Amino acid sequence: MEIMSNNFVIETHNLTKAYGKFVAVDSLNLQLPEGEVFGLLGPNGAGKTTTILMLMGFSEPTSGTVSVIGYNPAREPIKVKKVVGYMPEKIGFYDDLTARENLEYTGRLNGLSGSLLKDKIDGLLEVIGLKDKGDQMVGKFSHGMKQRLGIADVMIKDPRVAILDEPTSGIDPEGTDQILNLITEMAKRKVTVLISSHQLHQVQKVCTQVGIFSKGRMLASGPVDKLGREMLREGQFNIIMPVAQLADKVSEEIMKIPGVISVECVGDSTVVKAEDNLEKELEQVILKCTGLKIQMKVEEFELEEVYMKYFRES
Ligand SMILES: Nc1ncnc2c1ncn2[C@@H]1O[C@H](COP(=O)(O)OP(=O)(O)OP(=O)(O)O)[C@@H](O)[C@H]1O
Ligand SMILES: [Mg+2]
Repeated sequence: MEIMSNNFVIETHNLTKAYGKFVAVDSLNLQLPEGEVFGLLGPNGAGKTTTILMLMGFSEPTSGTVSVIGYNPAREPIKVKKVVGYMPEKIGFYDDLTARENLEYTGRLNGLSGSLLKDKIDGLLEVIGLKDKGDQMVGKFSHGMKQRLGIADVMIKDPRVAILDEPTSGIDPEGTDQILNLITEMAKRKVTVLISSHQLHQVQKVCTQVGIFSKGRMLASGPVDKLGREMLREGQFNIIMPVAQLADKVSEEIMKIPGVISVECVGDSTVVKAEDNLEKELEQVILKCTGLKIQMKVEEFELEEVYMKYFRES
């Protein structure tokens, strides 16, 4: 029996895919509300594409459930494909057709025709920055141009959901920014977006939530900033002061602050390791002991570090 709340546009419950004894996706739980831009982040072989294939109904789960806009993709793949725009890892266009003709083909498959289709294609070619290249053969397009055309190909059917498998892989920073802007554009139109990527840095900019995926398991997920903070809570704060050497008495007083782990001299600075961000408490103790107000810097952990930490540990 399937119990799906239907409040989520994409929802999986213990979704699992095994190839023989090898488990490519292991008990994945996803819940994406409308308008979310979710980044499924993980290294090569994490199971991102396998997950996406199950969401699209191209691959049947070994166990667990999956629902996309209330449909079970394994049983109702056509209904899912109607509302979901999918950009595969390797986009296939007809190389001997023009960009416009390729978009016309997709448009027709989705019931569009005549001036409505033409206007839509004109608009999309403009949005993806290929207005002047519409009549060029796609075979002559660069990789980045094909990726952008891929986004237009997804957008032409006004999908409620867009599932993009590595949309920025293999393109230069400028091309990546263009793709990310297009994703933001889709989000503005209330499209729920799932992007898979191993390029955390770039993709996190447009994501409302990210999941860190490795070896088939979701190791952590949530809003980018919250994920960083949670990691911080588990870890340590480094509070750095531009003071080469603190008087022993000051160090002793600092060590008395609950949560302080150590006080060390590192080069020209003093680093206080603590379980919490004790910047205020430190400031007070130093002011009390020396009469000085010292500028401090709290070492911030970027999501990159969270990502690297999880990948190292997994
Ligand atoms: N049809 C298959 N038969 C056997 N193993 C498979 C099959 N498809 C994928 N796998 C394995 O499942 C694991 C996950 O693969 P998947 O393609 O989902 O990873 P990914 O996260 O998309 O990686 P990448 O970033 O390289 O695209 C890999 O170890 C892969 O070899
Ligand atoms: Mg993949």
